[in-house]
Amino acid sequence: MGKVYVFDHPLIQHKLTFIRDKSTGTKEFRELVDEVATLMAFEITRDLPLQEVTIETPVETAKSNVLAGKKLGLIPILRAGLGMTDGILQLIPAAKVGHVGLYRDPETLQPVEYYVKLPSDIEERELIVIDPMLATGGSAIEAIQALKKRGAKQIRLMCLIAAPEGVEAVKEAHPDVDIYLAALDEKLNEKGYIIPGLGDAGDRLYGTK
Ligand code: PRP
Ligand code: URA
Repeated sequence: MGKVYVFDHPLIQHKLTFIRDKSTGTKEFRELVDEVATLMAFEITRDLPLQEVTIETPVETAKSNVLAGKKLGLIPILRAGLGMTDGILQLIPAAKVGHVGLYRDPETLQPVEYYVKLPSDIEERELIVIDPMLATGGSAIEAIQALKKRGAKQIRLMCLIAAPEGVEAVKEAHPDVDIYLAALDEKLNEKGYIIPGLGDAGDRLYGTK
């Protein structure tokens, strides 16, 4: 079964408070999401493999570690996932970026796929699916399915905020996928919004309604 990690670093919690606050405007919201994404990327890359190299310091020959060059891929779910992508790329600029376009039908809450464009070698890459919100889990489940259908083998899911319902649904549908969060909230309301959540992530990022 997939594991769930909540990155509750004080800086992440602090920034998340202002992300949640309804009085935070679009510009600041976007900046904070970007910053939290960078902090989460720092945590999620903790287990990247290293390889030893020999270097010359000004004083002597030394053995030291560099990243072993694992192939990574970021897969933002459009559109709100885009808000976290640059923040992650700050730390792992060599990652390739694929896009999965989904929106949640407001009546049925079912995800509707409208766009998929991926790196050609996704089967060799460790993919991180990115979306600020994991609510019913429908969008993440569908996006992960879209990747697996095209050959992806190693997938992680990274979200700002999740509802327990969404976490359970992803674990059930994709038991091989670990989930990384900044917060695990209380529940969903009758409209499928996360409580307390932050409202509609896409609308708050892009100033739409
Ligand atoms: C939001 C969010 C997730 C989805 C989560 O996207 O960014 O993709 O809802 O809900 P779920 O877990 O119940 O599927 P939305 O459908 O509003 O599209 P947008 O990103 O284009 O605003
Ligand atoms: N999508 C959002 O943007 N927010 C929620 O609370 C649930 C789904």
